[in-house]
Amino acid sequence: MVSIGKHTLDAPFFQAGLAGYSDAAMRLVARRHGAPYCVTEAMLDQFLIRGGKGLAAAELDGADHPIAGQLMGSHPDEIAEGAKILVGLGYDVLDVNLACPVKKIRKKARGGHLMQAPDEAVAILDAFRQAVGDDAPCTVKLRRGTDDSAEATANFHRIFEKVIELGYAGATVHGRSVEQKYIGPSRWSFLRDLVATYGGTPNFTIMGSGDIWEAADIFRMIDETGVAGVSVARGCIGNPWIFRQARAYMAGDVEGVRRAPTIAEQREVLRDHFELSVGLHGEKKAGMMMRKFGIKFSRHHPRGDAVKDAFIKVKNLADWHAVLDAFYIDDAPTVLADMRDESSNVACAAVQ
Ligand SMILES: Cc1cc2nc3c(=O)[nH]c(=O)nc-3n(C[C@H](O)[C@H](O)[C@H](O)COP(=O)(O)O)c2cc1C
Repeated sequence: MVSIGKHTLDAPFFQAGLAGYSDAAMRLVARRHGAPYCVTEAMLDQFLIRGGKGLAAAELDGADHPIAGQLMGSHPDEIAEGAKILVGLGYDVLDVNLACPVKKIRKKARGGHLMQAPDEAVAILDAFRQAVGDDAPCTVKLRRGTDDSAEATANFHRIFEKVIELGYAGATVHGRSVEQKYIGPSRWSFLRDLVATYGGTPNFTIMGSGDIWEAADIFRMIDETGVAGVSVARGCIGNPWIFRQARAYMAGDVEGVRRAPTIAEQREVLRDHFELSVGLHGEKKAGMMMRKFGIKFSRHHPRGDAVKDAFIKVKNLADWHAVLDAFYIDDAPTVLADMRDESSNVACAAVQ
C-alpha cells in the first residue's frame, strides 16, 4: 500500500507521465491491466490558462482516477493559476514537473532546468502549493540534479527540503541528471541515500524512477532503495502487461510474472487502445500517434519485424484493423519481450 496524501494505492507502482504517449487512452488500458494510479504528461501552465485545445486536452474521463495532473511552468503566478484549473477539472493529485530535460525556451527556465535555479524552483513550488491548499495533495517530480557536480546535489537537497517543509505529500525522483536526459543508468544509489535521509518524514512518500523495464525491476528498486512507490515509464509503452505481471509478482505467482501476452490478448489491447485514441483525438491524429505505439507493441509478436513494418504504414482505423487481421488472428507462441529502449530522442510534448 502506498499513500499519496488522502489517496491509498493498493500496489506500489504507477504509470509515469510520458509526453506524447500517456494520454487517457494509454492510461485506461494501463488501469485495465492493474496500474492503480497514473500521472499525466507535463502540461504547460500557459496552455491551460489560454484555454482552447490545451484546456480541452486536460479534461478527464470518469474512469481515469486516481490521477495526478502534472504541470510545468516558469512563473509562480502562472503555475498557481494552472494548478487551480486542474483542481477544478477534478484531478486527485497535483504534481509539479522539475524534471523535463528539454532546453529552456526564450531563456525561461522550467522543468528540470529549474533544478539549477533553486530560488526560482522554490518560488514555483510555494505558489503551486498555496494555490492548491487543502483541495488535493501536491507532489513533485525531480531529477537527481542538473549534473554530477557537488553544487547540483546541494541544489537538489535545498529544493527537496523545501518540498517537505511546504507540506507536499510526496516526490518522485528520477535517478538521472538533467544533463543525462534519458541516457545511461538511473542512479539508484541516490534514491537509496535519499530514503535513508528523508524516509522517516511523516506523511511524505518517496517514489523512484528510472530503468524499470520489466515487472521484477519494480520490486528490485524497492528492495535496493527503500522507495515506497515506483514509476513505470518506457517499460510500459506498448506493454500494459507489465502491470499485470507486477500484480502477479505481488501475489507470488512466479509463472504469471513471466507470462507473455497471447496473440489474442495483444489483439484485444491493440483494438481497444486505437478505439480509445480515436475517441480522444479523431482518426487522423490517432493514426499518427498509434504508429509509434504499434512499433513498441510489435515486440511482443513472434513476427515482430514484419508487424513493425506494417504498423509504420498505418494511417487510419481501417489500416490498423488490416494489420490486426493479417497478424493477430492465428495463435502462435509468444515469449516475454525485451522492452528496453534507451533512445534519447524524446521530449516533453508540451514544448514540442
Ligand atoms: C517519451 C518520454 C516522455 C516523458 N514525459 C514525461 C513527462 O511528461 N512528465 C514526467 O514526469 N516525466 C516524463 N518522462 C520521464 C519518465 O516519466 C521517466 O522518469 C523516465 O523515462 C525514466 O524512467 P525509465 O528509465 O524507466 O524510462 C518522459 C520520458 C519519456 C521517455
